Amino acid sequence: MADRYAVIGNPVAHSKSPWIHSEFARSTAQDIEYIALEAPVDGFARTVEDFRASGGKGANVTLPFKEQAYRYCTDPSAAARSAQAVNTLAFSEGRIHGENTDGSGLLRDLTVNLGRTLGGRSVLLLGAGGAARGVLGPLVAAGPARLVVANRSPDKARELAARFERGVEAVAFDSLAGLSFDLVVNATSAGMRGEAPPIPPSIFGKGALAYDLVYGRDTPFLALARASHCDTSDGLGMLIEQAADSFHIWRGVRPDTRALITALRTR
Ligand code: ATR
Repeated sequence: MADRYAVIGNPVAHSKSPWIHSEFARSTAQDIEYIALEAPVDGFARTVEDFRASGGKGANVTLPFKEQAYRYCTDPSAAARSAQAVNTLAFSEGRIHGENTDGSGLLRDLTVNLGRTLGGRSVLLLGAGGAARGVLGPLVAAGPARLVVANRSPDKARELAARFERGVEAVAFDSLAGLSFDLVVNATSAGMRGEAPPIPPSIFGKGALAYDLVYGRDTPFLALARASHCDTSDGLGMLIEQAADSFHIWRGVRPDTRALITALRTR
């Protein structure tokens, strides 16, 4: 029988993960089965237990369960501890390894697929919720000259920045006037409501990249960046790269991602 994996979320029917992982399995000649599992909002642990009992070898975890998955795993990685959230579980011999590949997926998309350098550059992260927490550690590790977190509630930005010993500044949106950055990452959920975070167009420096973690929709944030003649990217590449990192953890082989990114863009 093929090894079994799943993406667990609520809702989960829209997830592209089953398709992505079956494509990875095909391209690497791995025999796996990957399904979407909707857990009741109060039934995450039970759903994982049932899946493990039925022979599940690992799972991706998506909204709203990433923080619960962090508390549930027995062996969180450094990235999972930094994010206090887990998007990848691997089960072996009674242990539950918890990993967070969101940040590594973003970094790989930025540096490998989009050809950007972060070392010595200025980076602005918009938002201080779960999505921002998931990517901040790897952004810090990439060594930007300046890393600023801006959030509507500045206290949350300060709390997030304080988790790092040094190098992360926290500001309110109205303190962004007069600043400009090489990379602006939108980790707010403003786009879900058809809004842009309240940023001045001057934050996009010359040759800057504006990156929205959301994929599959043209957000007001990206439209604002385009109007400022800035390069833009949605989070589709990050989606595929974080999945490839999960696949690597489970199967020991990292699939080629480029063809899949192109295929999903034109799907
Ligand atoms: P997620 O896990 O997707 O990050 P979250 O934890 O609810 O979701 O965080 C949502 C983020 O988007 C927060 O940073 C939120 O700002 P607040 O902390 O001040 O609430 C931000 N956000 C949501 N709507 C926004 C808007 N219209 N403008 C600016 N920021 C917004």
